[in-house]
Amino acid sequence: MYKYKVSILGTGFIGLCSAVCFADRDIKVIASTHNQKKAEQINDGIAPFYEKGLQEIMDRLKTTNIFQCITDPVKAIRETDISMITQGTPMREDKSIDLSFIESTATEIGKALKEKDQYHLVVVRSTVVPGTTRGLVGKIVTEISGKEPGKDLGLCMQPEFLAEGRSIEDTLHPDRLVIGQFDEKSGSMLQEFYEYFYGDHLKNCPILRMNLESAELVKYGNNCLLSTKISYANEFANFAQLVPNVDVVEVMKGVGLDYRINPRFLGAGAGFGGSCFHKDVNAIKAWSKSKGYKSRLLEAVLDINDDQAIMMVDMAEELAGDLKKKKISLLGLAFKPGTDDMREAASIRIVNELLKRGVTEIVGYDPKARHTAEIELGEKIKYAKNLEDVLRDSECALLITEWDEFKELTPNDFKKHMKTPNVIDGRRIFDFDLFNKSLPFKAIGRI
Ligand code: UGA
Repeated sequence: MYKYKVSILGTGFIGLCSAVCFADRDIKVIASTHNQKKAEQINDGIAPFYEKGLQEIMDRLKTTNIFQCITDPVKAIRETDISMITQGTPMREDKSIDLSFIESTATEIGKALKEKDQYHLVVVRSTVVPGTTRGLVGKIVTEISGKEPGKDLGLCMQPEFLAEGRSIEDTLHPDRLVIGQFDEKSGSMLQEFYEYFYGDHLKNCPILRMNLESAELVKYGNNCLLSTKISYANEFANFAQLVPNVDVVEVMKGVGLDYRINPRFLGAGAGFGGSCFHKDVNAIKAWSKSKGYKSRLLEAVLDINDDQAIMMVDMAEELAGDLKKKKISLLGLAFKPGTDDMREAASIRIVNELLKRGVTEIVGYDPKARHTAEIELGEKIKYAKNLEDVLRDSECALLITEWDEFKELTPNDFKKHMKTPNVIDGRRIFDFDLFNKSLPFKAIGRI
């Protein structure tokens, strides 16, 4: 009845967003997770995390049986023709990549394919270091199933470029599709699948076919370049802070308009966070070191990023003096607006730096991330209910996440509620000239 039946192994951002988008376009999808509660929630049509547009698609799918989530991956694989691995690849304590979820999923695929006679396509969509799809996934599947890639099964690696908050949009409108293939047949099968899924939407989207290892490295190339652009902008913000009248925002605008560069991801500020950039930059750095090559560039990218937290606190001290006994307010805690995700957020590094300098009264406010921030930061800070609450009697406010509601703040709002209205703009959202003449003010990338 369905032209394609796909199993999605892992129900995080990539897995669940792909699953519902596929099902919404007439592809039978069986997703699998080991978390019984999560599976029930998904089957009840409730999105297990917030992602723009996700709940709407889940509402549409609720009354159909084209999409289901089960806790038996072997069954999901056996009942479908294509299996996509969308498990997380977290960072180990030593900052290298943890492939244990990939390993256990490959084992499950091996078990399922042992019992299956038809050709089956296995696609790795998780971010994995070069050599993993062939050397780990392919090897385990073959060892357990007795079936070989290129003969009884297909093997592909398709890196994913979707950003949190844009996962559905990015899934439906990709810039390009990168297909790493074990052999021609595997790659063609995946390309035909996407031609079916996207139809006319694929017209202006290049499809790149390459080997598995190159595709694996494309993903790191992407995240490392984006992180590098941000650290580069922050390096120039530091240059700009050496002399009066240079504004890093203007400088990066001028640089970014060069057609060879492009203006995106040149936003200087408190530094990048999120589950991907740190994890991936560290993973490829550790991987290359293990092969005998030390990356100086990526080392610098991470160092510059970490130091932006120190810069924010230095600026606060310059403005407000010794911070120790003062109430310090943090505006925004999530790693970026539009999400409640706190992973590797700049706010964590800033809080730790403040604590290192003996500050005891830190209050944070985030429109969405209060709950996740409480899990991440615990009792290191207090949590305010709203803007008024976070600013009340404060002696220095640090803007860390550029939520829309903060963009509307005027100098008077700070003056009205704070004991001393010292303000640090860590995302360059305030009108520099207006704020600078109205209150004690500092902003990243301009003095
Ligand atoms: C990132 C990539 O953008 C995606 O393409 C990729 O697929 C994803 O990682 C992943 O590997 O899964 P994400 O981490 O969701 O996506 O968020 P981004 O929008 O890229 O922002 C990352 C961080 O960079 C945020 O903390 C943001 O504040 C910061 N940033 C971004 C800057 O400091 N300056 C900028 O100009 C842009």
